[in-house]
Amino acid sequence: MTVHKTVWFAWCLHMFEFGDIRFRPVEKEDLKLLHQWENDFELIMYSRSKPMNFVNMTQLEKQYEEWVKDEKHFHFLVELVDSKMPIGVARIEQQSWGNVKTAELGTYIGKKELWGKGIGRQISVALLEMAFHQLNAERCEAWSVEYNIRAHKTLEECGFKKGGAVRQAAFVNGRKWNGLHFDILREEYLKMREALLKQSLGSKLETYLTKHCTIQGYPTDFK
Ligand SMILES: CC(C)(COP(=O)(O)OP(=O)(O)OC[C@H]1O[C@@H](n2cnc3c(N)ncnc32)[C@H](O)[C@@H]1OP(=O)(O)O)[C@@H](O)C(=O)NCCC(=O)NCCS
Repeated sequence: MTVHKTVWFAWCLHMFEFGDIRFRPVEKEDLKLLHQWENDFELIMYSRSKPMNFVNMTQLEKQYEEWVKDEKHFHFLVELVDSKMPIGVARIEQQSWGNVKTAELGTYIGKKELWGKGIGRQISVALLEMAFHQLNAERCEAWSVEYNIRAHKTLEECGFKKGGAVRQAAFVNGRKWNGLHFDILREEYLKMREALLKQSLGSKLETYLTKHCTIQGYPTDFK
């Protein structure tokens, strides 16, 4: 009974809900699903420019053990709020190169039938919220390969600016491709935050503000 209570409490503590999606910790039971996603040629071709990604359960379990020990970075399982159906993963890696707090963001939607429906944008805005509004990052960055137009559009729609290219950094499907770097500064995000939240959350905006931006007795800094 006590154990159940503790597990339930920890579970609730690590939830982050944003519109239709929820971010929760990756659990051991999720590894079966990750096994499927991480071995998907097309998915990994887009997400990591490394389609020949053959990983077995033992390798995933080792990776999971590393995540469990890792207190600096966040590894999320993204699921739909209503059905609790897992749809993908996301990560926030905290760095402070040059004494500036930077969060490197990444995601993939493992359920490929959900690509192109605007969920990636919702995930990206949620990651920006966590990074800037909860983790106090000064800037966020993301990497993507030259041919991943869908990801570039998503990032740019969320305010990321395309920076430099790392030339011919990936060899995929018979040729070399550039790696592209995107970033967004805190002040740039704050200028577009209200519009982005309204656009991404619609009628669920109030729920989000109440749940993750308000402390009882104190006014929210957004409205
Ligand atoms: C990248 C990803 C997270 C984007 O999420 P998504 O929900 O599929 O994307 P969205 O529905 O928000 O669409 C983003 C934009 O791309 C456009 N788009 C959709 N499919 C496209 C395609 N095949 N080619 C070009 N653009 C496309 C959409 O129209 C939209 O632009 P718009 O708002 O101007 O219409 C998701 O597609 C994914 O997980 N892809 C595989 C892994 C990956 O690439 N991860 C990111 C690594 S940086």
